[in-house]
Amino acid sequence: MTTALTVDVRIKPGDRRALLERDVREGLTKEAKSLPAVWFYDERGSELFDEITRLPEYYPTRAERAILVPYADEIATAAKADTLVELGSGTSEKTRTLLDAMARTGELVRFVPFDVSEEILRDAARDIAAAYGIEVSAVVGDFNRHLDAIPRDGRRLVAFLGSTIGNFTPTQRNRFYVDLDCNMDYEDRLLLGTDLVKPVPRLLAAYDDSAGVTAAFNRNVLSVLNAELGGNFDLDAFEHVAVWNEQERWIEMRLRARTAQTVDLASLDLRVHFEQGETLLTEISAKFTRGQVQDELWEAGFVVDQTWTDPDGDFLLTLARPYC
Ligand code: AVJ
Repeated sequence: MTTALTVDVRIKPGDRRALLERDVREGLTKEAKSLPAVWFYDERGSELFDEITRLPEYYPTRAERAILVPYADEIATAAKADTLVELGSGTSEKTRTLLDAMARTGELVRFVPFDVSEEILRDAARDIAAAYGIEVSAVVGDFNRHLDAIPRDGRRLVAFLGSTIGNFTPTQRNRFYVDLDCNMDYEDRLLLGTDLVKPVPRLLAAYDDSAGVTAAFNRNVLSVLNAELGGNFDLDAFEHVAVWNEQERWIEMRLRARTAQTVDLASLDLRVHFEQGETLLTEISAKFTRGQVQDELWEAGFVVDQTWTDPDGDFLLTLARPYC
């Protein structure tokens, strides 16, 4: 049994800080204020997201599980991979479902978790190495810059699940797919999870639940700024809003200033003014059609091999391969 565990750290501790500072300065000083969704996920933010995935209104996680569990063997057989690469190695539950199925094909030799958080990654890497007795080569990286750090060994199944791709704009998606395609070989496969377009009331409920967990998750980004950048955001002074943008086909999560106010971020030596009712865009969550997923992948150099949906048709898993 090989249980070699390596961790390739492409994001140094200081890089993260510099990136946060740059994103916050840029996002809060422009005309239409916005922040990248990555900054939600400190320890509390990750806990809140976990709680979101268990809400009755938040269907994506359950819908994706309703595909993965019954079809994992079919996916593993179709992918014919010996290496599972997981981008944004979030919950170990999905990972294990795929790893178990790949182990049943008798081919599994390696797991490559890829995440921005070194801590989450090290825990996941250790657990998987111990439980499966396989080689684990973890990469601490950002999927916009470090896809080239994915080890090239083996036939790889690159899983990008949970509709994390929904946080990207169409331009960012294209850049990501092209970059991924450049870093994949002919034999490798991509397994992509995307949330599908559905009636607006269900979408809105999923991002504005009755228990207020999503609202707390949204406001938590302000706590992150307070803690990390010496900010003095008053969380109660901002209202959580989720809107459906029909043109872009995405959900927008915003924080709306209840009153005119000024916020200081001491570490940035920055003072930010909010008009009453002004909003800060904190996240986009794009929703897709099957045809759109196929077209966007094709434009970036992938051809779709097979797709799966849950019985309610809420979520889509797509298995694709580089076509040249
Ligand atoms: C983790 C990006 C897939 O967009 O549904 C959940 C994050 N935001 N509720 C999503 C999220 C608000 C989630 N993703």
